Amino acid sequence: MKYHISSTPQELGQDAARAFADLYQQAVQDRGVFTVALSGGSTPVHLYKALSQMDLDWSKVRFYFSDERTVPADHKDSNYKTARDTFLDVVGIDPQHVFRMEGELDPQEAAARYTAVLPDQLDLCYLGMGDDGHTASLFPETEALEASGRVVANFVPKLNTWRITFTFEEINQSSNIHILATGANKKEVLLEVKNKSGKHPIERVENPVWYVDAAIAELL
Ligand code: 6PG
Repeated sequence: MKYHISSTPQELGQDAARAFADLYQQAVQDRGVFTVALSGGSTPVHLYKALSQMDLDWSKVRFYFSDERTVPADHKDSNYKTARDTFLDVVGIDPQHVFRMEGELDPQEAAARYTAVLPDQLDLCYLGMGDDGHTASLFPETEALEASGRVVANFVPKLNTWRITFTFEEINQSSNIHILATGANKKEVLLEVKNKSGKHPIERVENPVWYVDAAIAELL
Protein backbone atom coordinates (compact mmCIF):
# COMPACT_ATOMS: atom_id res chain seq x y z
CA MET A 1 0.00 0.00 0.00
CA LYS A 2 1.57 3.28 -1.19
CA TYR A 3 0.87 6.22 1.09
CA HIS A 4 2.15 9.68 1.92
CA ILE A 5 1.63 10.81 5.51
CA SER A 6 1.26 14.56 6.05
CA SER A 7 1.20 16.08 9.53
CA THR A 8 -2.05 17.99 8.98
CA PRO A 9 -4.95 18.02 6.49
CA GLN A 10 -3.66 21.36 5.20
CA GLU A 11 -0.22 19.85 4.52
CA LEU A 12 -1.96 16.86 2.89
CA GLY A 13 -3.61 19.34 0.52
CA GLN A 14 -0.22 20.79 -0.41
CA ASP A 15 1.36 17.35 -0.89
CA ALA A 16 -1.53 16.12 -3.04
CA ALA A 17 -1.49 19.32 -5.09
CA ARG A 18 2.21 18.84 -5.86
CA ALA A 19 1.43 15.32 -7.09
CA PHE A 20 -1.41 16.78 -9.21
CA ALA A 21 1.06 19.21 -10.81
CA ASP A 22 3.50 16.41 -11.65
CA LEU A 23 0.80 14.34 -13.38
CA TYR A 24 -0.55 17.48 -15.08
CA GLN A 25 2.88 18.30 -16.56
CA GLN A 26 3.32 14.76 -17.88
CA ALA A 27 -0.17 14.58 -19.43
CA VAL A 28 0.01 18.04 -21.02
CA GLN A 29 3.46 17.24 -22.40
CA ASP A 30 2.26 13.92 -23.82
CA ARG A 31 -1.25 14.83 -25.02
CA GLY A 32 -1.87 18.53 -24.44
CA VAL A 33 -4.66 17.88 -21.93
CA PHE A 34 -5.07 16.57 -18.36
CA THR A 35 -8.30 14.81 -17.34
CA VAL A 36 -9.11 14.52 -13.64
CA ALA A 37 -12.11 13.33 -11.63
CA LEU A 38 -12.62 15.23 -8.38
CA SER A 39 -14.00 13.45 -5.32
CA GLY A 40 -16.69 14.42 -2.86
CA GLY A 41 -17.10 15.13 0.82
CA SER A 42 -15.05 17.64 2.78
CA THR A 43 -11.46 16.37 2.55
CA PRO A 44 -10.88 17.55 -1.05
CA VAL A 45 -11.25 21.18 0.10
CA HIS A 46 -7.68 20.99 1.46
CA LEU A 47 -6.51 19.99 -2.03
CA TYR A 48 -8.66 22.65 -3.70
CA LYS A 49 -7.20 25.42 -1.54
CA ALA A 50 -3.66 24.30 -2.43
CA LEU A 51 -4.49 24.02 -6.15
CA SER A 52 -5.99 27.52 -6.06
CA GLN A 53 -2.51 28.84 -5.21
CA MET A 54 -0.86 27.09 -8.17
CA ASP A 55 0.11 28.85 -11.38
CA LEU A 56 -0.93 26.24 -13.97
CA ASP A 57 -2.48 26.72 -17.41
CA TRP A 58 -5.92 25.55 -16.29
CA SER A 59 -7.21 25.65 -19.86
CA LYS A 60 -5.40 22.33 -20.37
CA VAL A 61 -7.46 20.57 -17.66
CA ARG A 62 -10.85 18.84 -17.99
CA PHE A 63 -12.65 18.26 -14.69
CA TYR A 64 -15.01 15.39 -13.91
CA PHE A 65 -16.44 13.96 -10.66
CA SER A 66 -16.20 10.42 -9.27
CA ASP A 67 -19.57 10.67 -7.56
CA GLU A 68 -22.39 13.08 -6.79
CA ARG A 69 -25.36 13.43 -4.55
CA THR A 70 -28.86 13.55 -6.06
CA VAL A 71 -29.28 17.27 -5.44
CA PRO A 72 -29.24 20.33 -7.71
CA ALA A 73 -25.92 21.96 -8.63
CA ASP A 74 -26.46 24.86 -6.18
CA HIS A 75 -27.35 22.63 -3.20
CA LYS A 76 -25.04 22.78 -0.17
CA ASP A 77 -24.50 18.99 -0.38
CA SER A 78 -23.43 19.06 -4.04
CA ASN A 79 -19.84 17.89 -4.60
CA TYR A 80 -19.83 20.10 -7.68
CA LYS A 81 -20.84 23.15 -5.62
CA THR A 82 -18.09 22.44 -3.08
CA ALA A 83 -15.50 22.31 -5.89
CA ARG A 84 -16.87 25.48 -7.52
CA ASP A 85 -16.95 27.52 -4.33
CA THR A 86 -13.49 26.55 -3.11
CA PHE A 87 -11.57 26.07 -6.36
CA LEU A 88 -13.17 26.13 -9.82
CA ASP A 89 -14.67 29.62 -9.52
CA VAL A 90 -11.72 30.84 -7.44
CA VAL A 91 -9.23 30.24 -10.26
CA GLY A 92 -11.77 30.97 -13.02
CA ILE A 93 -11.98 27.56 -14.64
CA ASP A 94 -13.90 27.72 -17.93
CA PRO A 95 -17.29 26.08 -17.19
CA GLN A 96 -17.00 24.38 -20.59
CA HIS A 97 -14.12 22.40 -19.09
CA VAL A 98 -16.11 21.12 -16.11
CA PHE A 99 -18.38 18.08 -16.53
CA ARG A 100 -20.69 17.64 -13.54
CA MET A 101 -23.00 14.74 -12.77
CA GLU A 102 -26.56 16.07 -13.08
CA GLY A 103 -27.82 15.34 -9.59
CA GLU A 104 -31.15 17.04 -10.29
CA LEU A 105 -32.11 14.38 -12.86
CA ASP A 106 -33.44 10.87 -12.38
CA PRO A 107 -30.26 9.08 -11.12
CA GLN A 108 -30.37 6.34 -13.73
CA GLU A 109 -30.68 8.97 -16.49
CA ALA A 110 -27.90 11.05 -14.95
CA ALA A 111 -25.62 7.99 -14.81
CA ALA A 112 -26.26 7.14 -18.46
CA ARG A 113 -25.69 10.75 -19.56
CA TYR A 114 -22.46 10.95 -17.59
CA THR A 115 -21.09 7.76 -19.11
CA ALA A 116 -21.40 9.49 -22.49
CA VAL A 117 -19.20 12.47 -21.53
CA LEU A 118 -16.32 10.59 -19.88
CA PRO A 119 -12.96 10.32 -21.67
CA ASP A 120 -11.77 6.81 -22.52
CA GLN A 121 -9.29 6.88 -19.63
CA LEU A 122 -8.91 9.48 -16.88
CA ASP A 123 -5.37 10.64 -16.13
CA LEU A 124 -6.23 10.96 -12.44
CA CYS A 125 -9.18 9.85 -10.31
CA TYR A 126 -9.55 11.26 -6.79
CA LEU A 127 -11.38 9.31 -4.10
CA GLY A 128 -12.14 9.71 -0.41
CA MET A 129 -12.92 7.15 2.26
CA GLY A 130 -15.81 7.06 4.70
CA ASP A 131 -15.55 5.64 8.23
CA ASP A 132 -17.46 2.59 6.96
CA GLY A 133 -14.87 1.92 4.27
CA HIS A 134 -16.93 3.30 1.38
CA THR A 135 -15.40 5.25 -1.47
CA ALA A 136 -17.10 7.42 -4.06
CA SER A 137 -20.71 6.32 -3.44
CA LEU A 138 -19.81 2.65 -3.32
CA PHE A 139 -21.18 1.93 0.15
CA PRO A 140 -21.08 -1.45 1.93
CA GLU A 141 -23.86 -3.87 0.96
CA THR A 142 -25.16 -1.75 -1.92
CA GLU A 143 -25.86 -2.96 -5.44
CA ALA A 144 -23.31 -0.73 -7.15
CA LEU A 145 -20.47 -2.74 -5.59
CA GLU A 146 -21.08 -5.44 -8.18
CA ALA A 147 -22.22 -3.18 -11.03
CA SER A 148 -20.60 -3.31 -14.46
CA GLY A 149 -20.33 -0.27 -16.67
CA ARG A 150 -18.70 3.07 -15.86
CA VAL A 151 -21.25 5.17 -13.95
CA VAL A 152 -24.32 3.91 -12.08
CA ALA A 153 -27.11 5.06 -9.80
CA ASN A 154 -26.83 3.53 -6.34
CA PHE A 155 -29.49 3.50 -3.63
CA VAL A 156 -27.85 3.82 -0.19
CA PRO A 157 -30.26 2.53 2.50
CA LYS A 158 -28.26 3.98 5.43
CA LEU A 159 -28.67 7.44 3.89
CA ASN A 160 -32.10 6.66 2.40
CA THR A 161 -31.05 8.35 -0.83
CA TRP A 162 -29.80 7.70 -4.33
CA ARG A 163 -26.29 8.58 -5.41
CA ILE A 164 -24.55 8.72 -8.81
CA THR A 165 -21.16 7.04 -8.75
CA PHE A 166 -18.22 5.64 -10.68
CA THR A 167 -18.07 1.86 -10.56
CA PHE A 168 -14.91 0.05 -9.51
CA GLU A 169 -14.52 -0.80 -13.21
CA GLU A 170 -14.32 2.90 -14.03
CA ILE A 171 -12.14 3.79 -11.05
CA ASN A 172 -9.65 1.02 -11.77
CA GLN A 173 -9.20 1.94 -15.42
CA SER A 174 -7.90 5.40 -14.47
CA SER A 175 -4.19 5.95 -15.13
CA ASN A 176 -3.69 7.19 -11.56
CA ILE A 177 -5.86 6.96 -8.43
CA HIS A 178 -5.20 9.21 -5.44
CA ILE A 179 -7.18 8.62 -2.24
CA LEU A 180 -7.31 11.57 0.17
CA ALA A 181 -8.27 10.63 3.74
CA THR A 182 -7.97 12.29 7.12
CA GLY A 183 -9.24 11.97 10.66
CA ALA A 184 -8.66 9.79 13.72
CA ASN A 185 -12.20 8.38 13.38
CA LYS A 186 -11.02 6.42 10.35
CA LYS A 187 -7.71 5.09 11.72
CA GLU A 188 -9.04 1.60 12.50
CA VAL A 189 -10.61 1.28 9.04
CA LEU A 190 -7.37 2.39 7.38
CA LEU A 191 -5.41 -0.25 9.30
CA GLU A 192 -7.93 -2.92 8.21
CA VAL A 193 -7.60 -1.74 4.60
CA LYS A 194 -3.80 -1.89 4.86
CA ASN A 195 -4.11 -5.43 6.22
CA LYS A 196 -6.40 -6.40 3.34
CA SER A 197 -9.24 -7.35 5.68
CA GLY A 198 -11.69 -7.84 2.81
CA LYS A 199 -14.26 -5.96 4.89
CA HIS A 200 -14.29 -2.62 3.07
CA PRO A 201 -15.41 -1.59 -0.44
CA ILE A 202 -12.38 0.69 -0.83
CA GLU A 203 -10.14 -2.38 -0.74
CA ARG A 204 -11.31 -3.07 -4.29
CA VAL A 205 -9.51 0.02 -5.59
CA GLU A 206 -6.42 -1.20 -7.44
CA ASN A 207 -3.01 0.40 -6.89
CA PRO A 208 -4.08 3.72 -5.38
CA VAL A 209 -1.69 6.22 -3.84
CA TRP A 210 -2.99 7.35 -0.45
CA TYR A 211 -2.58 10.87 0.89
CA VAL A 212 -3.33 10.74 4.61
CA ASP A 213 -2.79 12.89 7.67
CA ALA A 214 -1.06 11.80 10.86
CA ALA A 215 -4.35 11.35 12.72
CA ILE A 216 -5.73 8.67 10.38
CA ALA A 217 -2.30 7.06 10.00
CA GLU A 218 -1.69 6.63 13.73
CA LEU A 219 -1.98 2.83 13.66
CA LEU A 220 -0.04 2.20 10.43
C1 6PG B 1 -19.17 11.78 -1.08
C2 6PG B 1 -17.83 11.19 -1.31
C3 6PG B 1 -17.48 10.18 -0.26
C4 6PG B 1 -16.44 10.88 0.59
C5 6PG B 1 -16.21 10.15 1.88
C6 6PG B 1 -15.27 10.95 2.78
O1 6PG B 1 -19.83 12.17 -2.06
O2 6PG B 1 -19.51 11.94 0.11
O3 6PG B 1 -17.46 10.92 -2.49
O4 6PG B 1 -16.96 8.98 -0.76
O5 6PG B 1 -15.22 10.96 -0.15
O6 6PG B 1 -17.47 10.01 2.52
O7 6PG B 1 -15.89 12.17 3.07
P1 6PG B 1 -15.11 13.27 3.94
O8 6PG B 1 -13.97 13.75 3.11
O9 6PG B 1 -16.14 14.36 4.18
O10 6PG B 1 -14.66 12.57 5.20
